[in-house]
Amino acid sequence: MAISKKTLAEKADKFLCYQKSVQSPDHEVEFFEQAYRDVFKNKPYSLREDFCGTFAVCCSWVAASPKRTALGVDLCPETLQWGRDNNLARLDDEQQKRVRLLEQDVRKLNRPRADVLAAQNFSFWIFKTRTEVVAYFKAAYKNMNDKGVMVMDMMGGGDCLIEGHVDKRKIKKGKRGFKYYWEQISHNPVNHDASFAISFKFKDGSKLKRAFEYHWRFWTLPEVREMLEEAGFAESHVYFEEEDEDGEDTGEWNRRDVSPSAPCWIAYVVAVKK
Ligand SMILES: C[S@@+](CC[C@H](N)C(=O)[O-])C[C@H]1O[C@@H](n2cnc3c(N)ncnc32)[C@H](O)[C@@H]1O
Repeated sequence: MAISKKTLAEKADKFLCYQKSVQSPDHEVEFFEQAYRDVFKNKPYSLREDFCGTFAVCCSWVAASPKRTALGVDLCPETLQWGRDNNLARLDDEQQKRVRLLEQDVRKLNRPRADVLAAQNFSFWIFKTRTEVVAYFKAAYKNMNDKGVMVMDMMGGGDCLIEGHVDKRKIKKGKRGFKYYWEQISHNPVNHDASFAISFKFKDGSKLKRAFEYHWRFWTLPEVREMLEEAGFAESHVYFEEEDEDGEDTGEWNRRDVSPSAPCWIAYVVAVKK
């Protein structure tokens, strides 16, 4: 009798691959601290992570200080459950008690409000019209404390508009190493509808093709800052990562009013409520 042997792709956990490839929760937490400190010269304690997915960031947040609380909000029960089984389960009992999860739309209002509201990995791009984004930003504003920062990441640059463009990276984890592909599937210059996908390829050649797909509006920095102002935020700032003389990223993020037009860039937008 033939023994069926599963491929590495069949055995893989797509959420684990995603976390290893896409996320750096400890770095996000450090950046939230910096963004809050830059405005209020103080430490933030409560985090609301909108579009939290597997809420790895919430878990890093509470693990970094016993004074911290986190609220994760996401619509998808499967993703939240993976986070409970894999990320929350790694925290001790006391840390777990400081993480609260809500399976709901991010536009709902909740209490208590947060010092830092994060919406990471371009997630608000799911809202494709100005009206929808401003409504979300207004809800986010109400979900924040009187002194608070909202942190979002943004991407841009010419390469991000090229249909079929693929960014490939090797995720080095020994025998379990795999490759990560970020694919620009389509871009419509008329309305800036843009589709992206994440795929993974394993050592035996098997693939998890388009394990995650995103159908977004490709928003630009000035549009987002104008919408934040319309939603009531007092100010907003754009942070880029500094590079050394060889063009390597340094891990240091600073506010910029002017930035070189790189073929592909990532930035943070920090909106301030005060
Ligand atoms: C691009 S993933 C980002 C996951 C995570 N924040 C990260 O940084 O990797 C987008 C997430 O947003 C969730 N989502 C999409 N629309 C939503 C909405 N209106 N309210 C709450 N969650 C939503 C999806 O279920 C998905 O988990």
